[in-house]
Amino acid sequence: MLSIVVLISGGGSNLRALLEATSDADFPARIVAVGSDTEAPGLEHAEHFGVPRFTVLPSAFTNRAEWGDELLAEIRQWSPDLVVCAGFMRILPPRVVAALSPNLINTHPALLPLFPGAHAIRDALAAGARETGVTVHIVDEGVDTGPTLVQRAVPVLAGDTEHVLQERIKTIERDLLVQTVLDIATDRIRLAAIHHTNRSATTP
Ligand code: GRF
Repeated sequence: MLSIVVLISGGGSNLRALLEATSDADFPARIVAVGSDTEAPGLEHAEHFGVPRFTVLPSAFTNRAEWGDELLAEIRQWSPDLVVCAGFMRILPPRVVAALSPNLINTHPALLPLFPGAHAIRDALAAGARETGVTVHIVDEGVDTGPTLVQRAVPVLAGDTEHVLQERIKTIERDLLVQTVLDIATDRIRLAAIHHTNRSATTP
């Protein structure tokens, strides 16, 4: 059984999809805790499913590294096999990434390497993209630069607003994230092997 800590910053619809999927006794993964960098509304989903939650506010620390160390300590209390960033809107400090990667994944609302960063949907619309999508990837020290695990395309339709396109993307994203977690839990996706292959390809 794969144990998971999910990190969120917002409404937590991806978290909710994971909580629903993993509450099925046949699903080979369990969410053991949910963490946030803010009093995120999505933490209520954790409460609803009886999953412990923790919040580590950056404002309580003098620098980002100390905040990251405390976040890492909270995560480690749960000894998770996997940490899933599901709408976690803060860059993790290098020490946190080094401690958790490759068992640290993120979902991003674009077809990376296109449109990295916090405004992926706005940027895709501004660029006039006809298609965007979702990427689930291993987190590395860059911003949305880690090895891609899976991607799924989503069309951009005439007249789309940011909100409409975001909702279309998130419907696909929730499914893709649940499927990816299932694939990791059943070894169809092997994070260590992907990480290793990627490093061999990029390290001189
Ligand atoms: C997702 O689209 C995620 O990719 C992005 O923020 C959104 C979070 O949505 N970074 P939710 O909080 O899971 O509803």
